Amino acid sequence: MAEPRIASIDGKLAEEFAVPSHVDEVKEKMSAFAAQHVATGRRVVLITSGGTKVPLESRTVRFLDNFSSGRRGASSAEYFIDSGYAVIFLHRHRSLYPYTRTFSTINMLDALQFRSGEEASGNTAEVVVNQQVLPNVSKVLKQYQEVKECRLLLPVEFNTLSEYLHLLKAAAQALSTIGSKAMFYLAAAVSDFYIPASEMPEHKIQSSNGPLQLSLNMVPKILSPLVKDWAPQAFVVSFKLETDATILLGKARRALDTYRHQVVVANVLDSRRGYVVVVTPETQAELILTEEDVKNDIEIEERIVSNLTSAHNKFISQQVG
Ligand code: PMT
Repeated sequence: MAEPRIASIDGKLAEEFAVPSHVDEVKEKMSAFAAQHVATGRRVVLITSGGTKVPLESRTVRFLDNFSSGRRGASSAEYFIDSGYAVIFLHRHRSLYPYTRTFSTINMLDALQFRSGEEASGNTAEVVVNQQVLPNVSKVLKQYQEVKECRLLLPVEFNTLSEYLHLLKAAAQALSTIGSKAMFYLAAAVSDFYIPASEMPEHKIQSSNGPLQLSLNMVPKILSPLVKDWAPQAFVVSFKLETDATILLGKARRALDTYRHQVVVANVLDSRRGYVVVVTPETQAELILTEEDVKNDIEIEERIVSNLTSAHNKFISQQVG
């Protein structure tokens, strides 16, 4: 089927996906963030992270969701910052977040205790952290505070598919001013299906009406206008997720042919923490964690980011030269 024209994707976004009220304000913040960091010689990466929520009713009681935890995006943000990038972190509300991600399964109250002998003073008693419950907390806190101090991380939240689409468009337009110094790292798991606002029931769907049949429309592939129109000079990395490993690389190559961007990181649901293939029009690199790597707490995102920052360097030098 022919690719829809760019103008029609823009029109569709405006008509069928509710525009978040704060989109212009966020766009200005992203532009200022990018300009400030590029002026000091940094590059900027826009990371998308987490799943999207697709409402079934406009006063939403029920929605469709997916598996993505946001771990890929959150850990990659840390490695990009370590590699000298400033990061715009466009993430699903409550998905994993850089630095705090390592403590996400811990109940905060289990990690706190009263300084000995202070329990009696009730509300004003001094509380300290039990570092056995939060291992490495000092190291992580130090990194987090440095990042905050230098304003290297700009978090932007989305919840629904509509918010994701509009905020990504705003980000792409904001980063278009820095040309090839911008990287897009599209790790979010975005729904391919949705119910347009015009066809969505307002109120809670009644189970008394019997079994529910849903008809969902296709979400426009946002990669297309992003690469061709919104940020045509940027270095764009998309992800390809499959559950059937036999079709993965073919689909990754097809995405590169269709969208004409720079890289697809291909991964399979069950092995995504330890194995990915970085595919470009000319190359294919397998990144694998060994048992030894896992024992040493090495994360695959460190390898992905190292591969991509080298490729981005090369890309920038080719644009300049
Ligand atoms: O979050 P984790 O639990 O750590 O898992 C990480 C991950 C598996 C989610 C991540 O590694 C990953 O593969 N993310 C992309 C998953 C996905 O949605 O793949 P896809 O084949 O549906 O989409 C391919 C690309 O098209 C994506 O880069 C997406 O940004 C883009 N897309 C998708 C839908 C859409 N309407 N427009 C798009 O441009």
